[in-house]
Amino acid sequence: MITFNAATKTFHLNAGDTSYIFYIDGDGAIVHLYYGPHLESADLIPLQDYRPLAFSPYHGEALSTHSPDVLMQEYPIHGIGDYSPSAVVVRNAQGNDITVLRYVSHTIAPGKPALSGLPATFAKADEAQTLAILMRDDLTGLEVTLYYTVFKDLPVIARSTSATNRGSAAITLEKLASLSVDFTDGPLDLCSFPGAHARERQFQRERLPFGRRVCESLRGYSSHQMNPAVILCDPTATETAGRAYGALLVYSGNFAAEVDVTQLRRTRLTLGIHPQTFRWHLAPGETFQAPEALIGCSDQGFGKLTHAFHDLMRQHLLPPKWVDTPRPILVNSWEAMFFNFNREKLLALGKTAAEHGIEMLVLDDGWFGHRDDDTTSLGDWTVNTAKLGGTMAQLSDDIHALGLKFGLWFEPEMVSEDSELFRAHPEWALQVPGRTRSLGRHQMVLDLSRPEVVDYLYSALESVVASARIEYIKWDANRHLTEVASATLPPERQGEVFHRYILGLYDLHNRLVKRFPEILFEGCSGGGGRFDAGMLYYCPQIWCSDNTNCLDRLAIQHGTSFFYPCSTMGAHVTVSDGLDFDTRFPVALAGTFGYELDLNQMPPEQLAKIPEQCKRFHELHHLVDQGDYYRLTSPMTDSVTAWMHVAKDQREFLLTCVVPIRDYAMYTRLRLPGLDPSLTYEDDAGNRYRGDVLMNYGFPLPPEYWSVKAFLWHFTAI
Ligand code: DGJ
Repeated sequence: MITFNAATKTFHLNAGDTSYIFYIDGDGAIVHLYYGPHLESADLIPLQDYRPLAFSPYHGEALSTHSPDVLMQEYPIHGIGDYSPSAVVVRNAQGNDITVLRYVSHTIAPGKPALSGLPATFAKADEAQTLAILMRDDLTGLEVTLYYTVFKDLPVIARSTSATNRGSAAITLEKLASLSVDFTDGPLDLCSFPGAHARERQFQRERLPFGRRVCESLRGYSSHQMNPAVILCDPTATETAGRAYGALLVYSGNFAAEVDVTQLRRTRLTLGIHPQTFRWHLAPGETFQAPEALIGCSDQGFGKLTHAFHDLMRQHLLPPKWVDTPRPILVNSWEAMFFNFNREKLLALGKTAAEHGIEMLVLDDGWFGHRDDDTTSLGDWTVNTAKLGGTMAQLSDDIHALGLKFGLWFEPEMVSEDSELFRAHPEWALQVPGRTRSLGRHQMVLDLSRPEVVDYLYSALESVVASARIEYIKWDANRHLTEVASATLPPERQGEVFHRYILGLYDLHNRLVKRFPEILFEGCSGGGGRFDAGMLYYCPQIWCSDNTNCLDRLAIQHGTSFFYPCSTMGAHVTVSDGLDFDTRFPVALAGTFGYELDLNQMPPEQLAKIPEQCKRFHELHHLVDQGDYYRLTSPMTDSVTAWMHVAKDQREFLLTCVVPIRDYAMYTRLRLPGLDPSLTYEDDAGNRYRGDVLMNYGFPLPPEYWSVKAFLWHFTAI
């Protein structure tokens, strides 16, 4: 998978059907050559695109061969003539930030090493190969190691970077990107996933002008406002054609995806922790590990890129136990009752749920302290036995006696002003002495950079979870970070707090997941405010959005699907939209599936449909969880939103089509990709179609499709 040509000093990473090629030049600089569809030969140095310009500084050799302003850089360094975003910025003991890294050595080893304290993809020795390249700045003693993992048969590369101070004086890392790639494809489009609370991951596409564009979060979380994932693609790329590169960060905190189109119309992508809120003091002998970034390439548009990332996450990132395990169909108390529940109401909900084929009851916010609204008790993870009419164990036993599993909500990172925890430990909230503490949803954020806070949260959660039969935990987080300073760190380390917070969060997740390996964790942050690959390493599913209107969900789930597998998208049938009950079902079925409404307040004719919906879920969820996902149209631009889940062996598929507005026959047929042209497929009504007909002529939509409605067709090969 990874080769090194010692004569030309060229590395060739063969990742699935793609090639990634770079070499070490005479100066020891690492020069990028190519990323794209597979090349048999990596002998590209003679073809290199080198166009010296006036005002391009040179270094070592002559401008005619060696200007960092002109050469494509594999990991751009700072201060010697490359004016595009640097991958690394280090403030040294002299106070300047000039860093000159040169190749020292490399290793190529089977498998993939873990990243200390960080979530990352994993692979067995026969599933991947990892290249580690050591670089050094002789003047400061800074050593940087670039890691590249290539996975068997997948067109995706995992990259990360570590920095070690081998010098005798402390230095400050101001930036250490996880990846940087220089593209020479000419003009590219940038696709990104901006949004807001209840409007997450809205697919956006723009032609890149000259200059810089940054997709970022500075909120302490990966955020609703911008997802840590971008696509660069040919201006002509579609779902099925054209070159597309996708990159995402396996990280849940502040990030920056910087895109710079240079004077030579090259595009540099730099992805990593956001440098604006990052300063890491590196004492002699210390090492800093940057998070992992994943980068993939498709020569057949976005669809193939999506399949690569979905496969990679299913095989190498999500908790393996849950990849093929059906998730229980749940009913969640939140939109059913909000804070207004008691034991009788919960048991009544559970009874009706069990009678209608639902498999788990999740008790959401409001079961602890004296929390009957969102102003109190966060941090006090003690069961409100008066409200629950007994202990958590008793409630859980009663729910189990109905034939249901039981799940519980937590919001571990937060503290209410009105809480025992805050009264005992006001200093545990993030704050700056002498300044007002900002609130969000009436609450503050605990300083997870402090190990004692993480220890407290671990034991508080552990004792509740161990006290009762609990099969599922929903991990919520409902505000962003402010006054990010920590009382326990010295001044020179205050720039570390954002990242140390995330390390504390990961530590807490890690300890709980290890302590309770059988529990299904669902991530959440006011809906989909932390929907990222870092969280997916611990939580195989994440609540996609607090917006459960099934029409709004079309755009949210569409945007989420570009990188994240459908099995990770928390999606429920709710009452929130007033739309036809049948319309809500297929949209929720495209995710983890469940209900979030009071079953005992529903119109009886809707309730009566739930057993059939649950049955359909059991028949079809393997396609959603394990199949290839195809976006057929876009809710951002098309009047009909349609998608498919196709079994890997192409013998079965699910076609969903949602018509959100009355659309007078704009579409009469949909061409269905990803099938076997030689097979004949039969739908549930017994209609038969040849694969080639469905693929090329298209599937004829029924005449009534122009009413506001959702359709679901299940086809199997005969
Ligand atoms: C925000 C979540 O997204 C909701 O599902 C619910 O759990 C509430 N928080 C509870 O406060």
